[in-house]
Amino acid sequence: MKEQLSSLKKEFEAQLKHVSSLLQLEALEQTIFGRKAGAFTTLAKQMKDVATEQKKAIGEMMNTVRLKIVKELEEKREALQREEMKKIAETESIDVTEPHLPKEAHGHMHPMSQVEIELSELFRSMGFMVLDGPELESDYFNFEALNIPPSHPARDSHDTFFIKDHPEWVMRTHTSPVQVRAMRQYGAPLRAVVPGRVFRNESTDASHEHTFTQLEGLVVDTDISIADIIGVMKGLLTGILKREVEVRLRPGYFPFVEPGFELDMKCLVCDGKGCNVCKHTGWVEMMPCGLVHPEVLKAGGLDPDVYSGFAFGLGSMRLVMQKYGIEDIRHFQSGDLRFLKQF
Ligand code: PHE
Repeated sequence: MKEQLSSLKKEFEAQLKHVSSLLQLEALEQTIFGRKAGAFTTLAKQMKDVATEQKKAIGEMMNTVRLKIVKELEEKREALQREEMKKIAETESIDVTEPHLPKEAHGHMHPMSQVEIELSELFRSMGFMVLDGPELESDYFNFEALNIPPSHPARDSHDTFFIKDHPEWVMRTHTSPVQVRAMRQYGAPLRAVVPGRVFRNESTDASHEHTFTQLEGLVVDTDISIADIIGVMKGLLTGILKREVEVRLRPGYFPFVEPGFELDMKCLVCDGKGCNVCKHTGWVEMMPCGLVHPEVLKAGGLDPDVYSGFAFGLGSMRLVMQKYGIEDIRHFQSGDLRFLKQF
């Protein structure tokens, strides 16, 4: 064993001399420490057959050899990296005389991105994960897993872009499919939000777009009630609009929640007295929400007798329109600099 170790070290050092790139170094490292067939790994596996009285001495020697090899690998890696940096520095140069771009020519983040980041931060501070999901979604996750079978009339309001010759794929019509994906991936308890783009076959007008954004929210635990929805929603609206808001729930129907609600917010413009913005009702419709339907929990692999949850779908473009007084949703994707420069 001792001889094997010292010849391994000699062999390694001989090969190290010929290494002239990081790639070669990595390959050499693999021949020594590779998990399956590395020379050192193989020797280490034989330790269990060493006689008890020799174990200590051989163990110590193995350790010394290992540390030495690791150190030499590290030194070589640093030397190679230095060389590479030097080569880059020699071939590239910075023109310090190049004039600055005028300030107006600098871009900045789109107002939707700004608010999406703000929303994500806010939810992170309440212990939520921020998740992502595919925009090209399967019919199963977009509809069926959400308790919307093929013949269900709720599909009418979710007409979308389909992929030619692939009826099983759709451009997702909402961020709700990520509910089931998240439950399957992370189980319960779960707190997640999903900001993202969604698509519908809409004739566009001032308040409708074929491509818009939502922020889905999902909380699953053992004892979730409607009071939890109200608490989180108030936290969200207060955090984004930076003032105390009053909310109310009205019944609303969505196949994947039971009971389902529409959450309204007392109009901030007229303080509930009635104005053009709230169509003289004193309340502004903010987001659909509800307790997660048992069938959806089941599709997510959770037992509805043990777990309950709530979900909401915030129309984040609408929220940004409220926040800044934007009168037409089509501005967002128009690419019109006169609009964008205002933010
Ligand atoms: N996904 C629904 C829609 O886009 C909104 C929703 C989300 C409703 C979550 C209830 C709960 O129409």
